[in-house]
This record gives sequence, structure tokens and C-alpha cells, in this order.
Amino acid sequence: MIESLRAYGYSLNSAIADLLDNSITAHAKNIWIHMYWEGDSSWLTIIDDGTGMDEKKLINAMRPGSQNPLDERTEDDLGRFGLGLKTASFSQCRSLTVASHINGGKTNFRRWDLDYVGKHNEWRLLKTARSGSERFFSKLDELEHGSIVLLEHMDRICEGQNKADESHRRKFMDRISSLQLHLSMVFHRFMEGRNGLNIYINGIDEEHKIKPWDPFISNHIATQKQPGERKKFHDGVVEVEGYILPHKDKFAPTEHEKAAGPNGWNDQQGFYVYRNKRLLVAGSWLGLGGRRHGWTKEEHYKLARIKIDIPNRMDSTWQIDVKKSTAVPPSLADKWLEEYAEKVRKEARSVFSHRGQYGNRRQVNEMSRLWLSSMRGGSQIYKIDRDNDLVKGLLNRADKLKPEIEALFRLLEETVPVQKIWLDMAEHSERSNEPMGGLTEKQIMDLADTTIKSLSGTGRRPSVTTIDFVCNMEAFINHSDVIRAKYLGVES
Ligand SMILES: Nc1ncnc2c1ncn2[C@@H]1O[C@H](COP(=O)(O)OP(=O)(O)O)[C@@H](O)[C@H]1O
Ligand SMILES: [Mg+2]
Repeated sequence: MIESLRAYGYSLNSAIADLLDNSITAHAKNIWIHMYWEGDSSWLTIIDDGTGMDEKKLINAMRPGSQNPLDERTEDDLGRFGLGLKTASFSQCRSLTVASHINGGKTNFRRWDLDYVGKHNEWRLLKTARSGSERFFSKLDELEHGSIVLLEHMDRICEGQNKADESHRRKFMDRISSLQLHLSMVFHRFMEGRNGLNIYINGIDEEHKIKPWDPFISNHIATQKQPGERKKFHDGVVEVEGYILPHKDKFAPTEHEKAAGPNGWNDQQGFYVYRNKRLLVAGSWLGLGGRRHGWTKEEHYKLARIKIDIPNRMDSTWQIDVKKSTAVPPSLADKWLEEYAEKVRKEARSVFSHRGQYGNRRQVNEMSRLWLSSMRGGSQIYKIDRDNDLVKGLLNRADKLKPEIEALFRLLEETVPVQKIWLDMAEHSERSNEPMGGLTEKQIMDLADTTIKSLSGTGRRPSVTTIDFVCNMEAFINHSDVIRAKYLGVES
């Protein structure tokens, strides 16, 4: 049984986050994590200055199933199943020692050692630390109350690892960085603000303090916060609040990378489910939307991030799992969440495709376009607009060439490389091009001149209407000032 408790499927990150939940529930103001490389004897401690436990409470804490999951918990309790301390620790290590003391009390130790339990085939909870490990607990003497959780024999990540092997060491260091990013995200709402929680990793100075990472980049001036909504269910109130993050153009490069989050821009889109302010799900469409599988994560929705807040009273209806890494909306909430998400997704898509100029750019219907998109027998097709003045004029003057030009148009329309464009954009959105992007002023003006000539006829003075038409073409709309100045002699 105790060996089976290891198999809940925690990652190192989700395991440590679960242990931190206990410290936070115990009202810790400071948490110090030390994760130390010693090859296959590497170890990890979590020290907190929370309320601590007396001996009776400590013994109970070490019991798998220390509390009934159906019990009502206080509003700020981050626990649920009475399992996390054991399952999270055993998922990473074979020896778990907890030491704790309450205000004015003596420090008690309890240890589960899987090898001991296996060898003696009895549930014996040991009362001392492993010999040689006493040193890890000296910090407790400095604290009025608090707890230390020590994980040793971390076989899941360190089995057979050699202390002297540089590649092994580097892998371990990468895990520390990844843990840091994970915690900065999961607990950001606890850390924010002046009196927020302090979490330190491998040190006690300011530089070792983990900085909160806000997935909504709510401090950025170009972030568009959407009006929030709340809805009452029989077991609690759910709140949602959508954010459209700024387009890439609005970020400095390092800022943009940071705003992406631990898993990158695309993966971090979607809902962020918080239970008592603790993040459970970091970017998922939660199986909502779509007809069969729900919305998938698409490049053009990557700027949409939606905060959902649920209280711990709703754990059962939202199917919170032991690892606290999933949440499933109850079907009663589906429609409401989908409708809300639709609005946010639509806005996000438009910011994404307008390359950050959303808001101060002209409305699409004021613009004259050469391409039309429409449907034919259930397929999306793209056509050159035969009613566009430029196209119409050219075809009228084409005379004998008209059927050939028409045939060329048709061929182009039938073979627009949609798949290729879609793939390129999905893989390298940063390469997407504004009309005329990368051309010189002269190249743009040459093209404008030819277009104007084509519309008004060679040798004729272009009318104001013609200039207006050209300035409103999608291709020239960002260069209209220069074109007007040249042909009409007015600035702007
Ligand atoms: N760092 C800690 N400080 C104080 N109490 C703790 C700490 N860690 C665990 N406990 C106690 O142990 C109990 C069991 O923890 P756990 O197995 O994680 O289950 P749960 O969090 O679901 O209650 C907690 O309810 C709490 O009373
Ligand atoms: Mg817990």
C-alpha cells in the first residue's frame, strides 16, 4: 500500500507545490526551500514559519488519509484529501521526515522510511531523523513555531546519479529553475503585494526570493481587462475575468519572453483555474467549446487568458484531484463559461491579427480590399474581388486579353497556399507580414504611382476620389499621408 502511494503521478513541481500548500494553510509568512545536489544522496527541505504541529497533530499528519475528504474545511484551507504530505513526498523520495513545534512547544520528529517499512513489513512511524540528518533541523530552533519537511533518498530524480558527473548536475540545476518558475506561477497571488508570502529557494537573501509571475500581465498598459462575471451555484460562487494580453509589438523582447510563462505563449492560453487563490490549471480550454473535443490551443488565440476563481467548497463538483493539477467545470457551468470565453477569444484573435494596432487602426469596412473570403460547398475559399475598381478597370481595358487574365485570376484563387501559410504562421508568428512590410519608401511609392495611373488612365490627372480610393486600399492605408502629400499637396 505504501509503495502504491507513490504512483499518483506527481511531477517534482506539483509535489513541492502540494507541500507548500500545507505551509500556507498553516499561515506561514516565510517558506525556505533548499534543494541540494549530492548525486544519488541529493536532498530537499521545506522549512516554514507556520503555526507548526504538536506531537498528536504531527502523528495524525503522517497518517495517509489524515482527514475525511468530505469534511467541510475552512475557507483558506488548501488541503482536501488528507494525503498530500505523504503522496507528494513519496512520489519523489523514499524517506520523509517531518519535524515541527508549536509556540513554546518542544520539537517532535516523525519519519516514514519506505525501506524500513518494506523490510519489517509493519507500519512503524519512526521518531527520529536518519542518523547524520539532524543538521537539517537546526533552523527550527530559530523559529517560534514552524515545520520542516525533509525528503531524502530521492530515487525518482536521483537514482544512480553521480555527484561528479557534470551532465547529471546540470539536469538537477535545470529542475531547480523549473521548480522556481512553477512556484512563481502557482502561488503568485499569495506572493503579490507588500505583505505577501516570501518563498526563498536555496538561500535566505532577497536575491533568492521567488518573484511572483502574473499570467495576466495586468500591470502592462496594453493589457485589456474584460468585464468580469460571477455566477452562483448550489455549492458556491464562481468568478471569471478575461484578459487580452498585448500584442508582441508592445513588449520589449525580454519582457515578451517572460510574459509567455513557463510553457510558452501558445500553451499558456485559456482558462486559469484558481482554488482559494492557488492556481490549479495554468492555461487550458477545459474541454469546452467545439463540438467533440473542445477548443484546441491555436496560435491566434494565444493572447487570451481567463481567470476563474472557485472556493474549496466546490472541490467535488469541479473534480479536484489529489495532485491539485486538474479541475473540470461542472456541466451546469459549461454554457456560461463558453459564452464568456467566446467573447474573450474573439477580442484576442483580433488583437493578434491586427498586430498590436487594434484600436487606432481603421475599421475593416472603411478599407478597400482586393481579396474576398467566402464559402463554397462547405470549404473556405479566397477570391479576387472583381468589383474592386482597380480590378474592374483593368479587366475592362484588357480587351482581347480579358479571358486570359480572368483564367489567371481563377488559377491563383484556386491555389492560394493556405496550408503553407497556416503552418508558417503557426510555427513562426513573428514572421507575419504587414502589407508592404520591409519595402522601401521608393518601392511603395512606385507601386502607388502605378496603381493610381491604372485607375485614372495614363496621362490624366488623378481625381481626389481616386487618391482617396488608393489611400484606403489595405496595401496603402499606412502610407496614405505620403501619397496624399505627393498628389494633393497637403500634409496629412
Ligand atoms: N507544514 C505544515 N505545517 C502545519 N501543519 C501541517 C504541515 N504539513 C502538514 N500539516 C498537517 O498535516 C495534515 C495533513 O496534510 P496532507 O497530507 O497534505 O493533507 P491535507 O493537506 O489534505 O489536509 C494537514 O491537514 C495539516 O494539519
Ligand atoms: Mg496538503
